Amino acid sequence: MSVLISPVVEADLEKIAALARLVWQSAYPGIITQEQIDYMLEQRYALSRLQEELKSPGIWWDKATVNGEIGGFSSCLLADKRGEMKLDKLYIDPARQRLGLGGRLIAQAVQRAIENACETLILAVNKRNEQAISAYRKYGFAVREAVRVDIGRGFVMDDFIMAMPLH
Ligand SMILES: CC(C)(COP(=O)(O)OP(=O)(O)OC[C@H]1O[C@@H](n2cnc3c(N)ncnc32)[C@H](O)[C@@H]1OP(=O)(O)O)[C@@H](O)C(=O)NCCC(=O)NCCS
Repeated sequence: MSVLISPVVEADLEKIAALARLVWQSAYPGIITQEQIDYMLEQRYALSRLQEELKSPGIWWDKATVNGEIGGFSSCLLADKRGEMKLDKLYIDPARQRLGLGGRLIAQAVQRAIENACETLILAVNKRNEQAISAYRKYGFAVREAVRVDIGRGFVMDDFIMAMPLH
Protein backbone atom coordinates (compact mmCIF):
# COMPACT_ATOMS: atom_id res chain seq x y z
CA MET A 1 0.00 0.00 0.00
CA SER A 2 1.55 3.30 -1.02
CA VAL A 3 0.40 6.20 1.17
CA LEU A 4 1.18 9.83 0.45
CA ILE A 5 0.42 12.64 2.90
CA SER A 6 0.03 16.03 1.20
CA PRO A 7 -1.88 19.31 1.52
CA VAL A 8 -5.49 19.39 0.31
CA VAL A 9 -5.90 21.56 -2.81
CA GLU A 10 -9.03 23.21 -4.20
CA ALA A 11 -9.53 20.43 -6.78
CA ASP A 12 -9.89 17.91 -3.90
CA LEU A 13 -12.71 19.72 -2.11
CA GLU A 14 -15.72 17.98 -3.68
CA LYS A 15 -14.16 14.60 -2.97
CA ILE A 16 -13.35 15.64 0.59
CA ALA A 17 -16.98 16.71 1.22
CA ALA A 18 -18.28 13.43 -0.24
CA LEU A 19 -15.81 11.42 1.83
CA ALA A 20 -16.86 13.33 4.96
CA ARG A 21 -20.49 12.30 4.38
CA LEU A 22 -19.48 8.68 3.79
CA VAL A 23 -17.43 8.52 7.00
CA TRP A 24 -20.02 10.38 9.11
CA GLN A 25 -22.82 8.09 7.91
CA SER A 26 -20.73 5.11 8.88
CA ALA A 27 -19.47 6.41 12.25
CA TYR A 28 -22.10 8.67 13.80
CA PRO A 29 -25.56 7.05 13.67
CA GLY A 30 -25.97 5.73 17.21
CA ILE A 31 -23.81 8.56 18.57
CA ILE A 32 -25.76 11.61 17.28
CA THR A 33 -29.08 11.89 15.45
CA GLN A 34 -29.41 11.96 11.65
CA GLU A 35 -30.67 15.56 11.97
CA GLN A 36 -27.50 16.56 13.80
CA ILE A 37 -25.30 14.74 11.25
CA ASP A 38 -27.00 16.62 8.38
CA TYR A 39 -26.78 19.96 10.22
CA MET A 40 -23.09 19.59 11.09
CA LEU A 41 -22.11 18.38 7.60
CA GLU A 42 -23.95 21.32 6.08
CA GLN A 43 -22.20 23.73 8.47
CA ARG A 44 -18.71 22.35 8.06
CA TYR A 45 -18.41 21.00 4.52
CA ALA A 46 -20.17 23.60 2.34
CA LEU A 47 -17.83 24.17 -0.62
CA SER A 48 -17.60 27.91 0.09
CA ARG A 49 -16.58 27.22 3.69
CA LEU A 50 -13.92 24.71 2.61
CA GLN A 51 -12.53 27.12 0.00
CA GLU A 52 -12.29 29.84 2.62
CA GLU A 53 -10.50 27.56 5.07
CA LEU A 54 -7.94 26.53 2.44
CA LYS A 55 -7.02 30.18 2.00
CA SER A 56 -6.89 30.98 5.72
CA PRO A 57 -3.56 31.39 7.44
CA GLY A 58 -3.67 29.39 10.67
CA ILE A 59 -5.65 26.48 9.16
CA TRP A 60 -4.02 23.49 7.46
CA TRP A 61 -5.80 20.73 5.54
CA ASP A 62 -4.01 17.49 4.68
CA LYS A 63 -5.00 14.32 2.89
CA ALA A 64 -3.82 10.72 2.81
CA THR A 65 -3.73 9.38 -0.75
CA VAL A 66 -3.71 5.60 -1.11
CA ASN A 67 -2.86 4.18 -4.52
CA GLY A 68 -3.91 7.50 -6.08
CA GLU A 69 -7.24 7.86 -4.20
CA ILE A 70 -8.04 10.07 -1.20
CA GLY A 71 -8.39 7.64 1.73
CA GLY A 72 -8.70 10.20 4.50
CA PHE A 73 -8.16 13.79 5.49
CA SER A 74 -7.47 16.02 8.45
CA SER A 75 -7.40 19.67 9.32
CA CYS A 76 -5.74 21.51 12.14
CA LEU A 77 -5.82 25.10 13.29
CA LEU A 78 -4.24 27.41 15.81
CA ALA A 79 -6.45 27.19 18.91
CA ASP A 80 -7.62 30.21 20.92
CA LYS A 81 -5.11 29.45 23.63
CA ARG A 82 -1.58 30.43 22.66
CA GLY A 83 0.78 27.50 22.12
CA GLU A 84 -2.00 25.07 21.23
CA MET A 85 -2.80 23.53 17.85
CA LYS A 86 -6.22 21.88 17.48
CA LEU A 87 -6.68 18.78 15.35
CA ASP A 88 -10.09 19.91 14.11
CA LYS A 89 -10.98 17.06 11.72
CA LEU A 90 -9.73 13.52 11.14
CA TYR A 91 -11.74 11.21 8.92
CA ILE A 92 -10.66 7.97 7.23
CA ASP A 93 -12.64 6.08 4.58
CA PRO A 94 -14.37 3.17 6.40
CA ALA A 95 -12.84 0.78 3.85
CA ARG A 96 -9.36 1.98 4.84
CA GLN A 97 -9.65 2.35 8.61
CA ARG A 98 -7.22 0.59 10.97
CA LEU A 99 -4.45 0.60 8.37
CA GLY A 100 -2.45 3.41 9.96
CA LEU A 101 -3.77 6.34 7.86
CA GLY A 102 -5.16 8.10 10.94
CA GLY A 103 -1.78 7.73 12.62
CA ARG A 104 0.00 9.21 9.58
CA LEU A 105 -2.31 12.24 9.57
CA ILE A 106 -1.90 12.72 13.33
CA ALA A 107 1.88 12.67 12.80
CA GLN A 108 1.46 15.37 10.15
CA ALA A 109 -0.61 17.49 12.58
CA VAL A 110 2.12 17.06 15.22
CA GLN A 111 4.65 18.27 12.65
CA ARG A 112 2.53 21.31 11.80
CA ALA A 113 2.10 22.09 15.51
CA ILE A 114 5.85 21.94 16.11
CA GLU A 115 6.56 24.11 13.05
CA ASN A 116 4.17 26.69 14.50
CA ALA A 117 5.86 26.70 17.91
CA CYS A 118 2.96 24.94 19.63
CA GLU A 119 3.56 22.92 22.77
CA THR A 120 0.30 20.98 22.79
CA LEU A 121 -1.96 19.31 20.23
CA ILE A 122 -5.61 19.18 21.32
CA LEU A 123 -8.88 17.87 19.87
CA ALA A 124 -12.55 17.43 20.71
CA VAL A 125 -14.14 13.99 20.37
CA ASN A 126 -17.67 12.83 21.16
CA LYS A 127 -17.68 11.04 24.52
CA ARG A 128 -19.34 8.02 22.93
CA ASN A 129 -16.94 7.74 19.98
CA GLU A 130 -14.98 4.85 21.47
CA GLN A 131 -13.20 3.95 18.23
CA ALA A 132 -11.70 7.42 17.86
CA ILE A 133 -10.93 7.77 21.58
CA SER A 134 -9.04 4.49 21.42
CA ALA A 135 -7.08 5.67 18.37
CA TYR A 136 -6.24 8.98 20.06
CA ARG A 137 -5.04 7.24 23.23
CA LYS A 138 -2.90 4.94 21.10
CA TYR A 139 -1.18 7.95 19.54
CA GLY A 140 -0.51 9.75 22.83
CA PHE A 141 -3.56 11.89 23.64
CA ALA A 142 -5.19 11.86 27.10
CA VAL A 143 -8.55 13.26 28.21
CA ARG A 144 -8.15 16.76 29.68
CA GLU A 145 -11.76 17.76 30.31
CA ALA A 146 -15.40 17.14 29.39
CA VAL A 147 -17.38 19.89 27.62
CA ARG A 148 -20.90 20.44 26.30
CA VAL A 149 -21.05 22.96 23.47
CA ASP A 150 -24.28 24.43 22.09
CA ILE A 151 -23.94 24.48 18.28
CA GLY A 152 -27.34 26.00 17.51
CA ARG A 153 -30.75 24.64 16.37
CA GLY A 154 -31.00 22.81 19.70
CA PHE A 155 -27.95 20.61 19.02
CA VAL A 156 -25.17 20.03 21.52
CA MET A 157 -21.68 18.56 21.15
CA ASP A 158 -21.01 16.34 24.17
CA ASP A 159 -17.25 16.01 23.95
CA PHE A 160 -14.02 15.18 25.65
CA ILE A 161 -11.14 17.55 25.03
CA MET A 162 -8.03 15.41 24.62
CA ALA A 163 -4.49 16.76 24.62
CA MET A 164 -1.01 15.59 23.70
CA PRO A 165 2.09 17.40 24.99
CA LEU A 166 4.66 17.80 22.22
CA HIS A 167 7.82 17.61 24.28
C1 LIG B 1 -10.71 7.28 14.37
C2 LIG B 1 -10.01 7.21 13.03
C3 LIG B 1 -9.67 8.60 12.53
C4 LIG B 1 -8.68 6.43 13.22
O1 LIG B 1 -8.02 6.32 11.98
P1 LIG B 1 -7.50 4.89 11.48
O2 LIG B 1 -6.74 5.09 10.23
O3 LIG B 1 -8.62 3.92 11.47
O4 LIG B 1 -6.51 4.52 12.71
P2 LIG B 1 -5.07 3.84 12.69
O5 LIG B 1 -5.09 2.68 11.74
O6 LIG B 1 -4.00 4.85 12.52
O7 LIG B 1 -5.00 3.37 14.19
C5 LIG B 1 -5.72 2.26 14.59
C6 LIG B 1 -6.32 2.47 15.96
O8 LIG B 1 -7.53 3.21 15.85
C7 LIG B 1 -8.54 2.61 16.66
N1 LIG B 1 -9.51 1.99 15.73
C8 LIG B 1 -9.59 2.22 14.40
N2 LIG B 1 -10.61 1.52 13.88
C9 LIG B 1 -11.18 0.85 14.89
C10 LIG B 1 -12.29 -0.02 14.98
N3 LIG B 1 -13.00 -0.38 13.90
N4 LIG B 1 -12.60 -0.54 16.18
C11 LIG B 1 -11.88 -0.19 17.27
N5 LIG B 1 -10.81 0.64 17.24
C12 LIG B 1 -10.47 1.15 16.07
C13 LIG B 1 -7.81 1.55 17.50
O9 LIG B 1 -7.26 2.18 18.63
C14 LIG B 1 -6.71 1.15 16.56
O10 LIG B 1 -5.60 0.61 17.21
P3 LIG B 1 -5.40 -0.99 17.22
O11 LIG B 1 -5.59 -1.46 15.81
O12 LIG B 1 -4.00 -1.17 17.75
O13 LIG B 1 -6.47 -1.50 18.14
C15 LIG B 1 -10.86 6.46 11.96
O14 LIG B 1 -11.14 5.18 12.45
C16 LIG B 1 -12.14 7.19 11.59
O15 LIG B 1 -12.16 7.95 10.63
N6 LIG B 1 -13.24 6.92 12.34
C17 LIG B 1 -14.55 7.48 12.02
C18 LIG B 1 -14.60 8.99 12.10
C19 LIG B 1 -14.16 9.55 13.42
O16 LIG B 1 -14.65 9.16 14.45
N7 LIG B 1 -13.22 10.50 13.35
C20 LIG B 1 -12.71 11.17 14.54
C21 LIG B 1 -13.57 12.35 14.86
S1 LIG B 1 -13.08 13.16 16.37
